[in-house]
Amino acid sequence: MSNPELSNLLHETRRFDPPAELAEHANLKADAYAEAKEDRLAFWAKQAERITWAEPFTEVLDWSNPPFSKWYVGGKLNAAYNCLDRHVEAGLGDRVAYHFEAENGDRRDITYAELLAEVCQAANGLTELGVKTGDRVAIYMPMIPETVVAMLACARIGAPHTVIFAGFSAQSIEDRVKDCGVEVVITADGANRRGKPSALKPTVDEAVAKCPTVRKVVVVKRTGQDVAWNDDLDVWWSDVVDHQSTEHTCEFFDAEHPLYIMYSSGTTGKPKGVLHTTGGYMVGVSYTHWAVFDLKPDTDVFWTAADIGWVTGHSYIVYGPLANATTSVFYEGTPDTPHQGRWWEIVAKYKVNILYCAPTAIRTFMKWGREIPEKFDLSSLRLIGSVGEPINPEAYMWYREVIGGNRCPVVDTWWQTENGMILISPLPGVTSGKPGSAMTPLPGVTAAVYDESGKPVEPGGAGYLVVTEPWPAMLRTLWGDDDRFKETYWARFPGVYFSGDGAKLDEDGDFWLLGRVDDVMNVSGHRMSTTEIESALVSHPMVAEAAVVGAADATTGQSIEAFVILRESAKGGGDDLVAELRNHVAKEIGAIAKPRSIMVVPDLPKTRSGKIMRRLLKDVAENREPGDSTTLADSSVMDLIQENLSKQSTDEG
Ligand code: WT7
Repeated sequence: MSNPELSNLLHETRRFDPPAELAEHANLKADAYAEAKEDRLAFWAKQAERITWAEPFTEVLDWSNPPFSKWYVGGKLNAAYNCLDRHVEAGLGDRVAYHFEAENGDRRDITYAELLAEVCQAANGLTELGVKTGDRVAIYMPMIPETVVAMLACARIGAPHTVIFAGFSAQSIEDRVKDCGVEVVITADGANRRGKPSALKPTVDEAVAKCPTVRKVVVVKRTGQDVAWNDDLDVWWSDVVDHQSTEHTCEFFDAEHPLYIMYSSGTTGKPKGVLHTTGGYMVGVSYTHWAVFDLKPDTDVFWTAADIGWVTGHSYIVYGPLANATTSVFYEGTPDTPHQGRWWEIVAKYKVNILYCAPTAIRTFMKWGREIPEKFDLSSLRLIGSVGEPINPEAYMWYREVIGGNRCPVVDTWWQTENGMILISPLPGVTSGKPGSAMTPLPGVTAAVYDESGKPVEPGGAGYLVVTEPWPAMLRTLWGDDDRFKETYWARFPGVYFSGDGAKLDEDGDFWLLGRVDDVMNVSGHRMSTTEIESALVSHPMVAEAAVVGAADATTGQSIEAFVILRESAKGGGDDLVAELRNHVAKEIGAIAKPRSIMVVPDLPKTRSGKIMRRLLKDVAENREPGDSTTLADSSVMDLIQENLSKQSTDEG
């Protein structure tokens, strides 16, 4: 946790008070902290009233068998009913659920009534394909309305979905599909990206060829490109869905019925299947979406600029906003297509009131220059949020000033795939924000910073971020691997949830996030495992050994830097080899996992017990004099590496 910015951070004296108007009408006021502290479970029982239960729960939390929690015991509900039917029944059918805006400017407003009809058709279609309650469905899709329809159709029939980010490789799809035994995959022929159609189905084809559990592949026609067709397996979405009735009577499931599985990178090679269930998750995302964004569903236009393939999209594009009858923007494209003002054009066009995005995007916009957003009318914005990685004070200030016009509170929200919902964040009507701090746990959430021995640190101290009490949207387990669930999150400090993040408390007791303390990188707000990328590199026949580190990067937060030892037979490979290895990683995991650089080295720095000292490699990658190397088994290794690298750069030059 040697963060060079740290001492500066903690002397941050700027404070931004909530705007008076917002504070006066805020959904959640300061007394919520005391109320939740007084009786946490009563507080969570009250938040559960945000959800419509077909049968009431009899107990808020069953924590008799930790770390396995049961929330809202005995309650029955349907997530899709809570997102759609109840709003239509309440007369909100004509409200726009999504302003869908495609990259190429095609647009479509989808009302709650329309979305409900489409979800019912898809639920009927999936049922006709034989998908039953409990069956797993994978969704590998672009950012199009059918993606949401598919998720909610699964939720409606109680078939847990696992959405796989469309940038992942065939190998990654195969791993996920096999891990949770997927029966049906929903995909599209392709996606539009940066003005060009790119194929999706061939990647799915390659994966499912090795996955015997998959019975059907449902294909949405998006780009119209030619696709290979397997009559036994493939069906068009339109053939499955279009002729179906727009009515579907939903069943109500137990509060603990699995809603979805989201795979996330961990410290070891295999991604973890984070399991979220229905009741607690729906309460958690509805509550946090309403409280953190001060959401006023009758008037606000809300926009989470993220991909549905990540948890941010699940919780704050789909389930949270829909549970709250929100009108959201849903954008298919990249921020620079067809021009670098695309986001701001969308904010102006739909009069977006609340924007939620990642610091990496903000830093990219900073790089492009303030004159671009300044050309657009951003006066509709009243609140702006950040998620996915620490937001450095400089980016915070730029966001606040240039995008938020110095009037919008910035909510820096800390949470993880496993958390399901925001856990640490300012409350916009209550908290005086500090640039760079996620501030305090939300009412109902209890977090702390522990030292090495598991004692809470005092204000001013640093250590490990833990969550000390269960929360409703917490993961229930890792799919099929209770032991790994216990081991990963509950073993480091018995009885409390260990996040894997380092954090510091300032003198006021506010939280500052310091990044991961394990072998996980954060690249553009996406979690990447060093070991997973190392395994991918080593699976190439020319690589004998590999070490991957995340180096500080001004835009993406971290960049992936690899060091490889080649096999004897591959020596002298040169630039082509590096390009080949980068592509190999893209093929194994996905383009997002491609190392920025791959350095060929004669040896790797290891301790006597054989553990790679990534810290030293990080020094090299960040152009620093390597730190203390006295614990190395062979202390000359670092000299060899340095020598070799300067030779490589002369060769290239
Ligand atoms: C990791 C979780 C759930 C959001 C998308 C990422 C980092 C997330 C913040 C923040 C500092 C943050 C942490 C965390 N992180 N939000 N506001 N400030 N760091 O989800 O892929 O599960 O990654 O992202 O390191 O552990 P994820």
